[in-house]
Amino acid sequence: MLLDLTPDEVLATTRSVRKRLDLSRPVEREVLSECLRLAQQAPTASYAQNWHFMVVTDPQRRAALAELWRRYAGPYLERRAAAAAADQRVARISDAVRYLAEHLHEVPVHMIPCVEGRTDRAPVAAQASRWGSIIPAAWSFMLAARARGLGTVWTTFHLHHEREAADLLGIPFESVMQAALIPVAYTIGTDFKPAARHPLETMVHWDRW
Ligand SMILES: Cc1cc2nc3c(=O)[nH]c(=O)nc-3n(C[C@H](O)[C@H](O)[C@H](O)COP(=O)(O)O)c2cc1C
Repeated sequence: MLLDLTPDEVLATTRSVRKRLDLSRPVEREVLSECLRLAQQAPTASYAQNWHFMVVTDPQRRAALAELWRRYAGPYLERRAAAAAADQRVARISDAVRYLAEHLHEVPVHMIPCVEGRTDRAPVAAQASRWGSIIPAAWSFMLAARARGLGTVWTTFHLHHEREAADLLGIPFESVMQAALIPVAYTIGTDFKPAARHPLETMVHWDRW
């Protein structure tokens, strides 16, 4: 079922959801398929459609992915401890990251967007073209999820152990790159607010930098 949100509201309120993921409510496969069908409408370089969407619901595989995620999250949080002590905003994010690290295995769905063709050490143009072939689709998935009352968060921690994740899931590592691990669950409440952002003029350049 779709929430009563305008397109602009969906764009403005698709937040990084960690603490408000409902860990007890299953997510229907049909709803995930709807979101993925919308993701398929994203642009694809040269008609390649070289996307793959790895949807992990098996509890043991989710637990193993969570373990890989935590392996990077632990030292990351330690490195950020001083910054978190000094800055309330950093502390809030660290707190949410710690919560997700503790609960990731309980999140009912882990979605890993993947793209065919590795660009390790490739020139920027090749990298941009390859990542641009999967990230718009993955973001469409996240927007479609939000419109259906699901929460998501873009995460990259497990990519520090990408090969192990590939082996775990049977992803052909030599020819396929993973872009993220997106936890997916219904949200606790559906009211989300736009994030605070720097003034637009600090990042827009009209005609010349
Ligand atoms: C490229 C990218 C990588 C991210 N990686 C992680 C991650 O590994 N773990 C995590 O908990 N959040 C991750 N996030 C989510 C950010 O931490 C989140 O966006 C941040 O809390 C700021 O929130 P805001 O985007 O709503 O302002 C990532 C976000 C982006 C865009």
